[in-house]
Amino acid sequence: MVLVSVASAASAQSAADGIAKYREMLQDGNPAELFEMKGEELWKQVRGPKKASLEKCDLGEGPGVLKGAFVKLPRYFADTGRMQDLESRLVTCMETLQGFNAAEVMKTPFGRGEMANVTALATYVATQSKGLRFDLPQGHAEERKFYELGKRAFFQRGGTHDFSCATCHGENDKRIRLQDLPNLTKNPGDGVGFAAWPAYRVSNGQMWSMQLRLNDCYRQQRFPEPKFASDVTIALGVYMGVNAKGAESAVPTIKR
Ligand code: HEC
Repeated sequence: MVLVSVASAASAQSAADGIAKYREMLQDGNPAELFEMKGEELWKQVRGPKKASLEKCDLGEGPGVLKGAFVKLPRYFADTGRMQDLESRLVTCMETLQGFNAAEVMKTPFGRGEMANVTALATYVATQSKGLRFDLPQGHAEERKFYELGKRAFFQRGGTHDFSCATCHGENDKRIRLQDLPNLTKNPGDGVGFAAWPAYRVSNGQMWSMQLRLNDCYRQQRFPEPKFASDVTIALGVYMGVNAKGAESAVPTIKR
């Protein structure tokens, strides 16, 4: 009996060591850099029916200002009259500056065509805020309203399993198998939760944006798939982003 428990403790330790080493190895050569480079190219490239680049895109800090934009999103934009996250704002710029059809882009599945380009662009833009701290504005009434909406959505139970986001992300030190589940009702800390996406996912070799992260968590929750950039996804972003105030962005990260 004693022997068995010693053996399993030892193997658990060596598994933990293995995982730590694996993470270290991966962080050295994060394939997210390839998406970041692709995003940079797309940002500067003259494209679309209007033959323009995105270099004048206003992500909230002024036209063309990239540094610090990511850690303040989602926020309210007066020109569209909407709350927007990084991805939906990029699609707005693709429409207004380059002449792409926003509705078409938003209907494209993740990882394909212009949607893959939006993810690469989001990776590039977010990377320009690496090391900066989250500080979402809450000055506008819509920004405060979306925080409250996001909070409600986060705790709303339903579906076949009666799950809410909080079922999996509402307590400290929860995990599913080897995956840590950060407590997103609080500030989960630097480079975790909202401060960690877009991330490169080793398990499927894809770059995942926050919209895709949320889409997949809705699937895990057995809820219907949310539409890209629908109000509920933006509201959840505001809720988690405001909760993450002060956390350092580590984007782009690498995840299992
Ligand atoms: C059934 C459990 C479950 C539910 C319900 C769930 N998630 Fe998740 N979530 C996970 C798992 C598991 C991961 C880690 C996945 C991974 O790393 O592959 C995760 C990861 C995340 C992350 C990234 C955390 C990080 O640091 O990497 C965010 C953000 C997130 N979920 C938000 C949500 C939101 C918002 C909801 C509600 C719409 C939700 N989740 C519902 C299981 C769940």
